[in-house]
Amino acid sequence: MTQDEMKQAVARAAVDYVKGGIIGVGTGSTANYFIDELAKVKGRIDGAVASSEATANRLKSHGIEVLDLNSVGGMEIYVDGADEITRNYHMIKGGGGALTREKIVAACAKYFICVADQTKLVDVLGKFPLPVEVIPMARSYVARELVKLGGQPKLREGFTTDNGNVILDVHGLSILDPVALESEINQLTGVVTNGLFARRPADVLLLGTENGVDTYKDI
Ligand code: A5P
Repeated sequence: MTQDEMKQAVARAAVDYVKGGIIGVGTGSTANYFIDELAKVKGRIDGAVASSEATANRLKSHGIEVLDLNSVGGMEIYVDGADEITRNYHMIKGGGGALTREKIVAACAKYFICVADQTKLVDVLGKFPLPVEVIPMARSYVARELVKLGGQPKLREGFTTDNGNVILDVHGLSILDPVALESEINQLTGVVTNGLFARRPADVLLLGTENGVDTYKDI
């Protein structure tokens, strides 16, 4: 199986978790495959909450109603990809720059279903540069503070988030305590959020491998 075929396989497997109600939908290439699969069962759901403008547009193009998170009480599941994930379900996300909205929608869902191909499974997070969304005027200050934490921040050139902010991608971290680092970076003034999803990890990992989909669950 190619990497894309693995992504499609996990997207199909995630549809088994769609029982009805409102679905939270992530951002990225694997999430896009999930949206395409969700479209096939759209009669089963009342609508979706999107974690980015790109996802909202793709959902709408399939005729799936996109709901404002503020008009929704909560949701059973949030389905999204990851840039890295450990066997403890801690993740780095935000390669596509949608980390803040992803974290907000995930916070409102009872279960986070992570859909990923086997290249995303790691023992230690940090080889993938950690995205940090920053208020533009705080960019240099936050970069200096991230250096003190042992990272090498690089501005994501020519990129603005859906929230009008910039992203610093932090290289060179070996993240042994993701829960602590997530909190520490979020405490820096000017940081909107960072791409560590450890305080609220995934609950289910659907991992695409050459032999099919492996399911890891914490529920
Ligand atoms: C988007 O901001 C990211 O968090 C994505 O969920 C993550 O980068 C995974 O993307 P792919 O499915 O494209 O690898």
